[in-house]
Amino acid sequence: MGLDLQNLKHVAIIMDGNGRWAGLRSHSRVWGHIRGSDIVSSIVEEADEFGLKALTLYAFSTENWSRPLTEVKVLFKLLKKFLNRERERILKNKIKFKVIGDVSELPLKTKQLIKDLERDTRNMEGLELTFCFGYGARKEIIDGVNQFIKQNPGKEITENDLNDHLYIPKMRDVDLLIRTGGDQRISNFLLWQAAYAELYFTPTKWPEFTRLEFREILEDFGNRERRFGQVRASQSLMESIEQAQKNKSQLRN
Ligand code: FPP
Repeated sequence: MGLDLQNLKHVAIIMDGNGRWAGLRSHSRVWGHIRGSDIVSSIVEEADEFGLKALTLYAFSTENWSRPLTEVKVLFKLLKKFLNRERERILKNKIKFKVIGDVSELPLKTKQLIKDLERDTRNMEGLELTFCFGYGARKEIIDGVNQFIKQNPGKEITENDLNDHLYIPKMRDVDLLIRTGGDQRISNFLLWQAAYAELYFTPTKWPEFTRLEFREILEDFGNRERRFGQVRASQSLMESIEQAQKNKSQLRN
């Protein structure tokens, strides 16, 4: 098959299409989210079995705040249910769990569940599972820059500095960004970390996304040629940065 999947470490997913999926079946949008939340567990399981290092899921964006309050509350409840339902499995499979974004408006009990699971899995070495909740990438970047300025007044910020001040410092780059539901947008998701990501858009709406389709997409990645702006497909991003630095210094001498 000639697949080279060694470089596929971090996959990020925009889980879109719940509302439309439910609407097509004359159900409420909320029903779509409920079905959608069931899918999350099977996709996490597949990511783990496939041997991914990291899976990041967009569960609630800063923009989602403008949805009807009933819908917002259901999404909060689904997060709580997920945490209760999956806690044991996450621990058993040594998954390192994190939530990034603004969770300040979540009910106290849910915030505590998140805190406990983050604490209990912080040294785990399995899949890094991150939920983006109340998350927006522009805000993440602005927050990072502001934090840096506060700690280093007068100093110019570098790429490394910003990497150190993201919600998860030094979060690994996204290799593959998948969006379900048919739209072809990034919607303020991991703008910094996905700078070099391969993009995959599937028309499948999230509630009918299967482990099989997920695996096929992961395998499709092995057929892509990633050049990071260079000429050699086999070059990694780091190799390509080093080559650029070498070229520049040779030109100067
Ligand atoms: C987009 O669908 C999806 C969301 C706004 C939330 C994603 C949430 C889940 C998959 C369920 C929550 C799960 C957990 C574990 C918290 P949409 O409603 O925008 O779909 P549409 O584009 O068809 O309207």
